[in-house]
Amino acid sequence: MTEKNGNDIGEVRRELGNVLRECHEKEEFNFALFQHNPSAITVVDRDGKVVKSNLARRHAHDPLPELGKSIFSGDSACDVIMKGELKKTLDQNMAREVSDVRSGGHIFSFTIAPFTHGAIVIRQDITEQKRAEAQLVQAQKLAALGTLVSGVAHEVSNPNNVMLLSLKTLQRMVDDLLPVLDERREKDGDFELGIGNYSEVRDDIPEMVACCYRAAERINRLVSDLKSYARKDDGVVLDQFDVNAVVQSAADLMGSTIRKATHRFKVECADDLPPIKGTVRRIEQVVINLLSNACQALPNQDCGITLSTAYNPASDEVHIMVQDEGDGIPSDYLSQITDPFFTTKHDTGGTGLGLSISRQIAENHGGALVFSSAGGSGTLVTLTLPVQNNNEDTTA
Ligand SMILES: Nc1ncnc2c1ncn2[C@@H]1O[C@H](COP(=O)(O)OP(=O)(O)OP(=O)(O)O)[C@@H](O)[C@H]1O
Ligand SMILES: [Mg+2]
Repeated sequence: MTEKNGNDIGEVRRELGNVLRECHEKEEFNFALFQHNPSAITVVDRDGKVVKSNLARRHAHDPLPELGKSIFSGDSACDVIMKGELKKTLDQNMAREVSDVRSGGHIFSFTIAPFTHGAIVIRQDITEQKRAEAQLVQAQKLAALGTLVSGVAHEVSNPNNVMLLSLKTLQRMVDDLLPVLDERREKDGDFELGIGNYSEVRDDIPEMVACCYRAAERINRLVSDLKSYARKDDGVVLDQFDVNAVVQSAADLMGSTIRKATHRFKVECADDLPPIKGTVRRIEQVVINLLSNACQALPNQDCGITLSTAYNPASDEVHIMVQDEGDGIPSDYLSQITDPFFTTKHDTGGTGLGLSISRQIAENHGGALVFSSAGGSGTLVTLTLPVQNNNEDTTA
């Protein structure tokens, strides 16, 4: 070998070394990109059999694809759709994207990219993204609904107040009028009044007026609930208040309803609760709503309700708990109960606004409403309120 040849060989060796190093670096790079990619990536051969897959699986019921097995071999809707899409990709040799594929409670988007020996299937979990989009749409709808509702509420409120006022006066007039009419009957005998003889309709008269008054009161409550739902209060008062006092006052206000619903009602207030900052009337409204739901859930008066308070130093939160021994909330609609207008009480005039307003109030105070219920075995609702509430917008 000549010296020249010797030099050539040295150069070729160096060149080769560089190429190898470069290849190694590229391989390392590709490996990292593949293995640590947050998307689940699976490489399949032209028969759709798994050649390799990375580790990005995001939930427990999502095992890694088995090597050598067809990637979409199951009979779930997702597998059926994706098997077809993979076949089309390989036949047409063109990458494709498939979005909104649902499987195991998750929503996925797939990208399938063909290459000489098969295809790369990239799967992204877009469940959270979809949920956020749906929430945004829901929030926009609710904002529009809020504007509509406050307009309607205003229009209904004025004439209804006139009715309430008149009915109250009418009630007193009827009380005064009945003895006069009784006296006339005594003197002149029975006489016709509206739809029948006085004797037949006499006892119905006060009940009819009372019934109208109760109906008008119900409209008033509904209107005020709708108003609370639709707007944030202006003129907000931020007080430091004693949670136990609020709980006790809500229990007092609900006294007669509670007594009708159960013989077993307890209030258990924790000592030394730190004061909370917020709007007393609103927190009281939440407790009243929760107590009212608890009363309505009880099948008989032997089932109990416990209203209690506690302080959790770890999270620095005060808890107000309403525990009932009622019918419980079936898991099917547990996630919907705080949606505005969701109610299972159509027959008894439920509006489905109680919990929606309560949740709004809790969140405006920086807190939350947490429900725990197994259908049939009662319900525990916990209102959590942070002690250090720096939320200036406590508009509740
Ligand atoms: N303690 C409870 N036990 C069982 N179901 C409950 C309980 N609290 C709430 N629910 C369910 O949640 C639904 C929504 O409650 P929410 O208070 O928002 O409305 P509502 O009670 O139906 O009507 P209203 O607007 O008059 O309060 C109820 O219809 C009921 O099905
Ligand atoms: Mg309710």
